[in-house]
Amino acid sequence: MNTQQSFCPTNISQNLCIYAAAASTLDTAAAFAQALQVQFFSYQDTPDPYFLTFPFVFVYEGEKAQIIQTGKSAPGPVTASFLQGKTTHRLKFGGGKGQMIAKAVGLNKGVLPTILDATAGLAQDAFVLASLGCEITLLERSPIIAELIASALREAQGTEIQDITARMHLNSVDACAWLADQTGKVADVIYLDPMYPHSDKSALVKKEMRLFHTLVGETSDDAELLARAIQKARYRVVVKRPRKGETIQGQQPAHQILGKSCRYDIYPLQRMENLK
Ligand SMILES: C[S@@+](CC[C@H](N)C(=O)[O-])C[C@H]1O[C@@H](n2cnc3c(N)ncnc32)[C@H](O)[C@@H]1O
Repeated sequence: MNTQQSFCPTNISQNLCIYAAAASTLDTAAAFAQALQVQFFSYQDTPDPYFLTFPFVFVYEGEKAQIIQTGKSAPGPVTASFLQGKTTHRLKFGGGKGQMIAKAVGLNKGVLPTILDATAGLAQDAFVLASLGCEITLLERSPIIAELIASALREAQGTEIQDITARMHLNSVDACAWLADQTGKVADVIYLDPMYPHSDKSALVKKEMRLFHTLVGETSDDAELLARAIQKARYRVVVKRPRKGETIQGQQPAHQILGKSCRYDIYPLQRMENLK
């Protein structure tokens, strides 16, 4: 994973600690704790329930990494693992190139664009696009979320999905800064799925969103990101939004693909068919 500039809330050391649950993970876990400047615990410290006084614990367990939330009514763990049930189910039964996201990036035009996912998150969308054959670069500015993705990519090595994850290339960087540094076009399609709006109650109840709001922070640079993406994409920019969410400020999309809970705003730059 390449790491340049990244982004972490200032109170992170109160909210998160790192826990190595197995001997094989000690070095990786300790190095990550050091990089983040947060407390580190391992199975060797047991019994040490102290680490459970942190609201979030980043747990390394063998090849697997996940963030658990502590406390009485804490929801289940959050992971980027591509081997978990919902991801493998979508791989088998998700609808291939007929899926909305596939149409949004132009795969229904008989072309195979290279993609930059500038807001990778848990990389579930990126995995779908890689599973449909796209080479995809992922940018993620939160080092915590980027480490979940990096662990998921390591975990996939040697499994039946390794050909898919080999097409996914992760950079732990801020996309605005990274795009500003690039001299030419960076991908055929740039895909954006920025943070959901804070007022979206349905998204807030989801465990991933709660975690994002505490550990990733809320700085929104959507308008700048969109403007930079439009400068650096060859064929189109695609923005995923909540179905009824506002468009990002600035240039307006030429068309939209509407789903049950989300929507894709399309900013065309040239015909996808020219890619053939
Ligand atoms: C809603 S999540 C993306 C979910 C993702 N599409 C998926 O399928 O899992 C948004 C992510 O974008 C990241 N992000 C927001 N602005 C960014 C920026 N300027 N550069 C890089 N990452 C950014 C946030 O840290 C967060 O992890």
